[in-house]
Amino acid sequence: MSGHTFSLENHTILVTGASSGIGRAAAIVCAKMGASLVLTGRNKERLDETLAMLENSGHSAIAADLTNAEELEKLVDACPNLNGLVCAAGIAELAPFKMLSQNHIDRVMNINFLAPIQLTQLLLKNRKILPSASLVYVTAVAEHVCPLGSSIYSASKSALTAVVKTLALELARNGIRVNSLSPGYVKTEMLEKLPSVEQYFSLVPLKEIEAGDIANGIVYLLSPASRWVTRSTLVIDGGLTIPLR
Ligand SMILES: NC(=O)c1ccc[n+]([C@@H]2O[C@H](COP(=O)([O-])OP(=O)(O)OC[C@H]3O[C@@H](n4cnc5c(N)ncnc54)[C@H](OP(=O)(O)O)[C@@H]3O)[C@@H](O)[C@H]2O)c1
Repeated sequence: MSGHTFSLENHTILVTGASSGIGRAAAIVCAKMGASLVLTGRNKERLDETLAMLENSGHSAIAADLTNAEELEKLVDACPNLNGLVCAAGIAELAPFKMLSQNHIDRVMNINFLAPIQLTQLLLKNRKILPSASLVYVTAVAEHVCPLGSSIYSASKSALTAVVKTLALELARNGIRVNSLSPGYVKTEMLEKLPSVEQYFSLVPLKEIEAGDIANGIVYLLSPASRWVTRSTLVIDGGLTIPLR
């Protein structure tokens, strides 16, 4: 892949949520494009499964709960200097507004919103993010369309997008790019946990999106192919969110 605009050769990239779904697919495609990966998630066994799926050598896995301050610090300490960060860890818990509990709000906000910003802040403080790096945050089209039962999930993602835009301004002087990627419904374990999954895909003009399709968008945002792209959101939703009438 050397010399290719989408090449990730000589890039070291940290991927959160690498034990499953979009994070795992991102790690697999990034390795194919030449990157060295640092994988993280809570489940060490599933991280090792991802590790075994990666092309080339020089990858590593560090298990950590990103909502635990001590584990977050240990992860950052163990992390090499980075050319890229992919924040894919997250949960999709839904609850009608009247039923919202403080526990639900904390669970969703802690991993979807606070964890990626605290991780980024610690990486920056410890000078682990190299000049010209690219940071990619996986949000969700829920942030734009806010479906029923998704008030806190949608809020967690739109709050993250707001931070991404400000952070991109603040890091531009170091040549660091910061973008979000907003997927529609993607065939992963997260979606399979929700009721009536087939009903979701029936709403999508291009039907089923695979995790690998989102991973290709992540590679674009990490690679020199997007070197003038910052403060933006790449929507990959199979046409779901533009209404026909
Ligand atoms: N699938 C979709 O339709 C869809 C649509 C739009 C946006 N998204 C977004 O895409 C991202 C990835 O989702 P997915 O579909 O790939 O879900 P998934 O298959 O359920 O994977 C979620 C990942 O997050 C990690 N994670 C969860 N809580 C964590 C914690 N406290 N600390 C560290 N890691 C944690 C999990 O790892 P462990 O269990 O090992 O900790 C797992 O690797 C999420 O941010 C989600 O909101 C997904």
